[in-house]
Amino acid sequence: MIAPELVILRELLAHESAFVSGNLLAGKLGMSRVGVWMHMGRLRAQGFVFEAVRSRGYRLIRRPAGLNPLLVQAHLKLRTRQLDILCLPEVDSTNDEAERQLAAGRAAPFVVLARRQTLGRGRLGRVWHSEDNGNLYASFAFRPQLEPGRMQTFTLWMGVNLCELVANFCQIQPGIKWPNDLYFKNRKFGGMLTEARIDSDQIRDLVFGLGLNVNSPAAALPPELDRHATTLAGSTGHPQDLNRLTAAIIGRVLSAYERFVEDGHRSTFADLWNRFDILRGRPVTLLQGARRITGIAGGVDDEGSLLIRGEHGRPQRFHAGEVTLGKS
Ligand code: BTN
Repeated sequence: MIAPELVILRELLAHESAFVSGNLLAGKLGMSRVGVWMHMGRLRAQGFVFEAVRSRGYRLIRRPAGLNPLLVQAHLKLRTRQLDILCLPEVDSTNDEAERQLAAGRAAPFVVLARRQTLGRGRLGRVWHSEDNGNLYASFAFRPQLEPGRMQTFTLWMGVNLCELVANFCQIQPGIKWPNDLYFKNRKFGGMLTEARIDSDQIRDLVFGLGLNVNSPAAALPPELDRHATTLAGSTGHPQDLNRLTAAIIGRVLSAYERFVEDGHRSTFADLWNRFDILRGRPVTLLQGARRITGIAGGVDDEGSLLIRGEHGRPQRFHAGEVTLGKS
């Protein structure tokens, strides 16, 4: 059953700033107007503010700015509206929580969102700073039943989908830095962390983690990241609607996942990669442990390996490593 608060919110959001009559809401909910009033009270307790006018009904005049599960659900488009979303005030890591839920048998797909992570982590064991400050920490859990070899381009595919979504949503030109960083104008605003558990020749569980700097104030960035990181609010010059953005991201990640599993993504992937790749044609340095490779980046191959052309040679392919711009 859909929560009455969600029905009310969808109706009010659909009418934007216009009034919605108490009778209409009561009819939709199959309850009295007193019942509607009671559920509006629950929404008020979450930070929603309504104007109520006797002969006209209700209209929404303020919503909570922070992550709100009802608002995320209310903004989801039709196909994904009933998705299982777990929204926590605090967790160690949304990836870890998704993994625990999968291990406990929760039906996939589902999404874990948190306002704050105490042990948020990134690639190569790095810390992902995860305060409760208007940013997004999300993990998507799947049981894909694919061969592990198919996963090589998964994070890259998700990354270009997210770039396109952010480009449309925020009206900026973001980019992807192989293999998992989301950039705007040479500064990172997001990172992806895909983790899988494999049973002999099949992927059992897959968790796709996404951290996006959305609305955190510039001063909240740790000093060591200050020159290298940005937020979507900073990039666009105004705060973003975190709940609407989260809903849009959920819809896009789920549809991108379906296309990936059906294997219908390859030509679109190549086009999107060429559009959003920030390394192509630029001098780069790749570190693989003690090994250091310099050259000009030349996109990725079908398996998602990075191509680097040295001074005299043919492009070499690399499936792992840490890449930086320039010949450092
Ligand atoms: C990176 O840039 O190295 C990847 C960062 C991934 C961070 C996200 S935040 C949500 C999810 N939970 C985590 O602990 N990590 C990912």
